[in-house]
Amino acid sequence: MNAVNEKKVAALEAVKYVKSGMTVGLGTGSTAFFMIEAIGEMVQNGMDIKAVATSNETEKLATKLGINVITLAEAKRLDVTIDGADEVDEDFQLIKGGGGALLREKIVAHNSVLNIIIADSSKSVAKLGKFKLPIETIPFATQLIIEELRGMGLSPVQRKKDDADYKTDENNDIVDIDIWDTDIKLTDLEQQLKTIPGIVETGLFLTTTNLVIIGNGEKAIVKK
Ligand code: 5RP
Repeated sequence: MNAVNEKKVAALEAVKYVKSGMTVGLGTGSTAFFMIEAIGEMVQNGMDIKAVATSNETEKLATKLGINVITLAEAKRLDVTIDGADEVDEDFQLIKGGGGALLREKIVAHNSVLNIIIADSSKSVAKLGKFKLPIETIPFATQLIIEELRGMGLSPVQRKKDDADYKTDENNDIVDIDIWDTDIKLTDLEQQLKTIPGIVETGLFLTTTNLVIIGNGEKAIVKK
């Protein structure tokens, strides 16, 4: 079974945790797409669901499917958030932000009672870091941050799209760094990165995840 089907299998398992009356955080990406589609169907079948979107792309899709998208301020607290990941390890630590939505994704995860990560089997890793870690930076500071990260041996590369600087929904930049060979503990690395002024957020999600659902062939493996 291919990755696309595994994404769908994981997404369909995850939406079983969504009940009528809940406010749901909607993740971003190709795996989250199947979850949003399924929630759209649940709404069409009469379930009362409010949602907070983690990106403009997700908001557009959810609205098109008839899901009632509200602001985070209106929601205050989310019952459950379902999102994808670029990598997930056995301790439920994640690299996210391949799709550039890491900032809102981390905010939504922080404000959610239950956080479910859905992924195809290729995303499940023993050690994080084959995927480059996305860092969101304020454009005013991006070039100097790149110099600083280079000095830390993290091989920073500013993300581009169509030959121009990639911009997030907040109009910030993304710098992708290589953490594979670093011997700094992930919690320490996260702290060090967050002390550099102009780094708004990192794609390291170390403590927010409660449940991981991996599509594996035809089956969904639920890890608690
Ligand atoms: C977006 C993300 C996505 O969850 C991550 O990139 C995985 O995406 P996909 O499901 O398309 O593989 O963090 O910022």
